[in-house]
Amino acid sequence: MRTIFICGNWKMNTFLTDAKNLIRAIYEKTNITNIDIAVCPPAIYIESVCNYIQENNKGLIIKVGAQNMHWEDKGAFTGEISAQMLQDVGCSYVVLGHSERRALFAETSADVHRKAQKALSLGLLPIVCVGETLEERESGIESEIIAKQLKESLGTLSPSQVETCTIAYEPVWAIGTGKTASPEIAQEMHAFIRKSLSNQYGERVANSIRLQYGGSVKPENIKELISQPDIDGALIGGASLKAESFSQIINICSEMKG
Ligand code: PGA
Repeated sequence: MRTIFICGNWKMNTFLTDAKNLIRAIYEKTNITNIDIAVCPPAIYIESVCNYIQENNKGLIIKVGAQNMHWEDKGAFTGEISAQMLQDVGCSYVVLGHSERRALFAETSADVHRKAQKALSLGLLPIVCVGETLEERESGIESEIIAKQLKESLGTLSPSQVETCTIAYEPVWAIGTGKTASPEIAQEMHAFIRKSLSNQYGERVANSIRLQYGGSVKPENIKELISQPDIDGALIGGASLKAESFSQIINICSEMKG
């Protein structure tokens, strides 16, 4: 049985006060322990959000993730942040290979693999993102693209390492555009991802790994998406920036599970 996993990706949004207000408001509006919840603030606010959670933990366990990391431990890598630094301030998860990083910062699947390897060696749990562009979908090569991204991003990770990752399927054409993939398309791609993982790492891994959908998820569409057999959660951008909508999504998922 896979526990639903809802993760908010705040991207490059919020100032310090907003970040603190947002985490406080999420706590106020949710009181749920039957699904997994995480938020990924901008790196500079991770510590403040972790501190708030530690000081105010009232039973609702919200974990904190980072939006990126570097694969080296330390050294002359100006502007970068290591996995150990993220753990040092309280991070449990790290988003890797988000399509914005791939498209805007030339991040490759080989980079994602190096990062995933480092994160896993320290017990930081990767959320590995894959997704095709509109052009790729219109050319009918979406499955090939996803298979390639999966193969190269997970690379030589062992089955037991892969099992602890989360894979987020985020079609690029659905991110921040208001266009959600239909539940049928999302399910089809998630089933394809699970099948590919099964072929590569075995059925046990494929059955236990969590697959999130991402791309314009909101309270209005979460129910249909999460009802699909291979969708185990969501990676949420825009709707995670408002406590109201993020909590609604969490509450809907929790009710469906209960
Ligand atoms: P969105 O972003 O929910 O705003 O579409 C999703 C994501 O980029 O993870």
